[in-house]
Amino acid sequence: MKDIKIKVNDLSLYYGEKKALNEITMEIPANKVTALIGPSGCGKSTFLRCINRMNDLIPNVSIKGEMLVEGIDIYNKNVDVVNIRKKIGMVFQKSNPFPKSIYENIAYGPRINGIKDKTQLDEIVETSLRQAAIWDELKDRLDDSALGLSGGQQQRLCIGRTLAVSPDIILMDEPASALDPISTSKIEELIHQLKEQYTIIIVTHNMQQAARTSDQTAFFYMGNLIEMGKTNSIFTNPVQKQTEDYITGRFG
Ligand SMILES: Nc1ncnc2c1ncn2[C@@H]1O[C@H](COP(=O)(O)OP(=O)(O)OP(=O)(O)O)[C@@H](O)[C@H]1O
Ligand SMILES: [Mg+2]
Repeated sequence: MKDIKIKVNDLSLYYGEKKALNEITMEIPANKVTALIGPSGCGKSTFLRCINRMNDLIPNVSIKGEMLVEGIDIYNKNVDVVNIRKKIGMVFQKSNPFPKSIYENIAYGPRINGIKDKTQLDEIVETSLRQAAIWDELKDRLDDSALGLSGGQQQRLCIGRTLAVSPDIILMDEPASALDPISTSKIEELIHQLKEQYTIIIVTHNMQQAARTSDQTAFFYMGNLIEMGKTNSIFTNPVQKQTEDYITGRFG
C-alpha cells in the first residue's frame, strides 16, 4: 500500500456566498509529485492554499469538510497553525526573496525557529542551497543581495528558503511560469530530486510540465475535481470527456 500523506474528505470552500471548491475528496501519496491542472479560475490555487491554511488570511472564507495531514485534520480548532505552516512550505509563481543577502534569505527561517549557532546556520545555508541546485552558482556571493539574482536563480533561492526549515510537504503554485526554458528545466529537475524526501504538490498550466514532473495528476474544473489518477493514464487515457478536452487543448 502506498503511503498516504494527505487525505481530503468532502472539502468545500466559499468566498462569501460563492462556492469555489465543491466537495473535493482525494488522497495525496507521500514522496510523490501530484500535479493540479485545469483552466484558469477552476480553484487550483484555492485548493493549494487549503493545504497550509493560507486561506485563513482571506476575509469571508468558509471551509467545510476535512483536510487530514498525516491523519490530523488541520482545520480542527486545537491545531496550531504556525506548526502546520512549518511543516508545509510554499513556493509562488512570482519569486519573492526578502530584500536581504542570499545568506540571510536562507538563514531567516531557521533563526526564527531558534537556531542561533553560526556554524549550524552556515551548514543549513549550504545544505539548503545544494538541495535547491544553486549552491555552486551562489557560494561565492552569499553576502550579495538576493534581489540581484536572475528570476530563475531567485526562484531556486526561494525553494532553498523553503527547504531550510525542513518541511515535509512543498506546495508550488506555477513555480516556473515566469521563467525561461532553461530555468524551467532546472526547476523541473529539482522537483524530481526533491520528491525522494518531500511530498510535492504543483499547480501548472503547462501540460508537458505536468506530464514530465508528476506521478499523479488531478484535473479541476469549475471548483470540482473531475478526475485524478496516474499522470500517464490521465494524459493518454482520460476517463472523463472534460479532461480529454482540456489536455488536448480544446478549451482552457
Ligand atoms: N480572495 C478571493 N476572493 C473572492 N474570490 C476569489 C478569491 N480568490 C479566488 N477567488 C475565486 O475563486 C475561483 C477560483 O480561483 P483560483 O485562484 O483558485 O483559480 P485557479 O485555478 O488558481 O486559476 P488560475 O489558473 O488563473 O491561477 C475563481 O472564480 C476566483 O475568482
Ligand atoms: Mg492560480
